Amino acid sequence: YSIPRHSCCSLNFRSIVCFLRWFVRSQKNHTLIFTRESTIRNCSCLADIRDCDYSLANLMCNCKTVLPSTMEKTSYNSDLTIWFTDTSGLEMLLNFTRVCDLKLSFCGTTPLPTEYLTIWGLRKLRVNNKVKGQFPEQSVTIYSSSNNEKGDPLAVHNRDRQMFVYISFLDTSLFNGYSLLKSYSVENVSSITEHFPSLLHSDVFSMSDNKSYVVTFIY
Ligand SMILES: *[C@@H]1O[C@H](CO)[C@@H](O)[C@H](O)[C@H]1NC(C)=O
Ligand SMILES: *[C@@H]1O[C@H](CO)[C@@H](O)[C@H](O)[C@H]1NC(C)=O
Ligand SMILES: *[C@@H]1O[C@H](CO)[C@@H](O)[C@H](O)[C@H]1NC(C)=O
Ligand SMILES: *[C@@H]1O[C@H](CO)[C@@H](O)[C@H](O)[C@H]1NC(C)=O
Ligand SMILES: *[C@@H]1O[C@H](CO)[C@@H](O)[C@H](O)[C@H]1NC(C)=O
Repeated sequence: YSIPRHSCCSLNFRSIVCFLRWFVRSQKNHTLIFTRESTIRNCSCLADIRDCDYSLANLMCNCKTVLPSTMEKTSYNSDLTIWFTDTSGLEMLLNFTRVCDLKLSFCGTTPLPTEYLTIWGLRKLRVNNKVKGQFPEQSVTIYSSSNNEKGDPLAVHNRDRQMFVYISFLDTSLFNGYSLLKSYSVENVSSITEHFPSLLHSDVFSMSDNKSYVVTFIY
């Protein structure tokens, strides 16, 4: 008795391997970036890693060290998770960056001061605070349209097909966990400089004067 050449057994084995290859390829990798002391690691992870578990991330993900001096401002079209311990690391990675779907986990122990982070195009934010167990994970959704518009990468059409540029200001002291996460949006703002003159560096926004903004404060 001998196993036929094209036996079920080998066929099954091959299809399983084939399926696994396809499965791994079709999984979406998440980008996880963590800053600790002066080190920045940029990782691509298949699995969800427990917050602030640096050694697990180094083990399970494909990570590279990023030198702050070579870092460029980029935009993130898919999920981005950032673990941080202080505002300077966060500002370096995130201030004036475009991110649609963001998860921020505060892994430090020293309370953070009130500083403002400016994020373009933020659609959904999840925040996690390791220190205070009181408010484990909270989230805020600023808009839900998922259509990828061609043309202006910052602008999104709303239901009435009007172009809006989404800009969010996030108060970093929210990670101290003293209160629930809140957000407040002002829609259809024609000029940020005019409507929010006391916002620091509002001159940055005067360049795209022909646009309508949705300004969101997250605190
Ligand atoms: C992290 O890596 C992703 C690609 O995996 C890249 O798009 C992004 O720019 C990198 N970010 C930094 C801060 O190096
Ligand atoms: C996801 O990351 C793994 C390594 O962590 C890599 O082998 C695989 O090619 C990546 N997949 C995609 C779709 O980028
Ligand atoms: C982000 O940049 C603005 C303008 O340079 C600055 O005022 C602000 O403090 C920065 N945010 C953080 C968290 O450092
Ligand atoms: C936005 O404001 C402009 C000018 O004030 C107005 O014509 C337009 O209808 C507004 N759009 C929405 C969606 O409120
Ligand atoms: C501003 O918008 C108007 C009407 O939509 C358009 O005709 C004009 O060309 C725009 N100007 C600039 C500088 O984009």
